[in-house]
Amino acid sequence: MDLSRETTVKEIALSNPGARQILEDAGIDYCCGGEKSLRQACLKANVVDSEILRRLRQNIDRVDPHEFEWMSAPLAKLTQHIRERHHQYVRDSIPRVRSLLAKIREKHQSNHCELRDIEKLFGDVAREMLMHMQKEEQILFPYIDALERASKGDGAIEPPFFQTVKNPIYSMLKEHDSVGDLMRQIRTASNGYKAPADGCASYQAAYQGLEEFEKDLHLHVHLENNVLFPRAVGLEGAVTT
Ligand SMILES: [Fe+2]
Ligand SMILES: [Fe+2]
Repeated sequence: MDLSRETTVKEIALSNPGARQILEDAGIDYCCGGEKSLRQACLKANVVDSEILRRLRQNIDRVDPHEFEWMSAPLAKLTQHIRERHHQYVRDSIPRVRSLLAKIREKHQSNHCELRDIEKLFGDVAREMLMHMQKEEQILFPYIDALERASKGDGAIEPPFFQTVKNPIYSMLKEHDSVGDLMRQIRTASNGYKAPADGCASYQAAYQGLEEFEKDLHLHVHLENNVLFPRAVGLEGAVTT
């Protein structure tokens, strides 16, 4: 892979998990901001691009063949993976993290008023994500799966009420931006998920839960924004022309 400051973050993120980890550690948005060049993304994240480029160059040839699987795997396999791995993770994590946040807010809010904001912000994340995933599972993913079956001559595709797959994808992209922004606010309010010196074990567990939630969300949104959605748009073009 030819890597320069002008390579898009999306291309880098697609190359291997190590490259994604470098972006993640540097606070570079590789899922919603995937179309930006590395130079623009580093500027936004306020990090030095030459240093990130150096780290990426050390890593970039360690390509994981599994990564490329998603660029060519059946889309039904990818939608199933997203549902079973990421949507299920979100559904399992929400009640656990919310209950930890409620517990530490009750105990520590007199010294840490930010806990009220964090609890409220995560409540918004939970509400938005549960509705968002329901739309993907009930409307968008079944249509993508049907497009793929039609492309293989297995059934015809009915014109959808949303006209083209680009319309629900547009809404999903907006919703990804919104929830990504809420998680950034939580990251800031929690001082980068660092529990304070007077924080108890539940405090640590709540912040660790939030950090893992954000990390999983980045991978989840990357698979949708950078792999599934562009492939679905291409497939629709091929099936309907
Ligand atoms: Fe999703
Ligand atoms: Fe999504």
